[in-house]
Amino acid sequence: MADLSFPVLKNDRLLRAARGENVDKVPVWIMRQAGRYLPEFRELRSKFDFFTICQTPELACEVTLQPIQRFTDLDAAIIFSDILVIPQALGMVVEMKPSVGPVLPQPLVKPEDISKLSYPVNVQEKLGYVMKAITLTRHKLDGRVPLIGFSGAPWTLMGYMIEGGGSKTMSKAKHWLYEYPEKSKELLSILTKVVADYLVEQGKAGAQLLQVFESSAEYLGPELFKQFALPYIREISELVKKGLGEKKVPMTIFAKGAHYALESLANSGYEVVGIDWTVDPREARKKVGQNITLQGNLDPCALYSDEKTLTNLSNDMLNSFGKQNYIANLGHGIYPDVEPDKVGVFLKTIHSF
Ligand code: CP3
Repeated sequence: MADLSFPVLKNDRLLRAARGENVDKVPVWIMRQAGRYLPEFRELRSKFDFFTICQTPELACEVTLQPIQRFTDLDAAIIFSDILVIPQALGMVVEMKPSVGPVLPQPLVKPEDISKLSYPVNVQEKLGYVMKAITLTRHKLDGRVPLIGFSGAPWTLMGYMIEGGGSKTMSKAKHWLYEYPEKSKELLSILTKVVADYLVEQGKAGAQLLQVFESSAEYLGPELFKQFALPYIREISELVKKGLGEKKVPMTIFAKGAHYALESLANSGYEVVGIDWTVDPREARKKVGQNITLQGNLDPCALYSDEKTLTNLSNDMLNSFGKQNYIANLGHGIYPDVEPDKVGVFLKTIHSF
């Protein structure tokens, strides 16, 4: 049995902000904070395949801790993994190709292909390595900062499973939505169940906040989002809250490009709503109301600017969001060619506010 009695949490800013409580400083973390912009990550990555790192709890833990060791101003760790471990758990092959990204060589082509997925999924059996990495990392963090768990949301996962990788248009996956709406919903329901089970297990294993990435929301628009994304996002928060019961783990929904759906996302059972850099923080606040915590949203490219400009841009962001009900972050994942020192400047500016 895994040892689930964890060291006491010394920095609870992130969790306090997620619950809408007062904080001494604005909590901050960075999407993709463990990744290729860090030389220590590239060094380890040169020795191991991407999914080998994900599947080896000691390696996933080591990579998760890298940014925490480098930057004293980070207020959270996020477990090192990928959203595409779910298609893998459903029996699909996923490869991570350098300078290409994820590739699924046998994508779903027709609705009949849904029956080829190995479903139901026993997530402990198929993804137990993630839970092991979470539990190990909770111990190694020694209570320094909380640990975030995550999953992709159903529409985003469906997109990769049909496109066979990233896409500029998502036209193959959207083709399904228009030609086979009922079969699309069947696939989205399968994914919803697996994602919910997976997040419940992450919570039980020690994840202290759970973020759901709907990274491909930008391709949908209001009508498709209402039909093919929102109901599943909502069902996930319901199932996870039911599954975790008394163990209350706050949840974040980050639907990239879903500026048109902020009101409904604020009513979908998540404590935190993440926004990308195209959204005006003051407009977002008007849409989500006072009871939701907002997360975001500096343009990841702002980290290319000089130190003074970056400081000014970060302060503008802080002034637009205010200190209450707010978690600072970028508006999407950090890019691999950012200088790590710029991250330090960003984090320091947030904590000086
Ligand atoms: O944030 C973290 O530090 C935790 C780790 C994390 C990764 N992927 C590691 C990763 C998280 C939270 C993800 C989520 C993820 N993965 C998303 C949702 C967030 C988003 O960016 O919208 C998506 C869409 C994926 C799928 C994925 N994985 C893509 C499209 C790519 C290629 C793009 C790229 O940055 O190369 C990946 C690869 C990936 N995932 C890397 C890392 C560190 C780089 C791969 C490598 O080392 O070769």
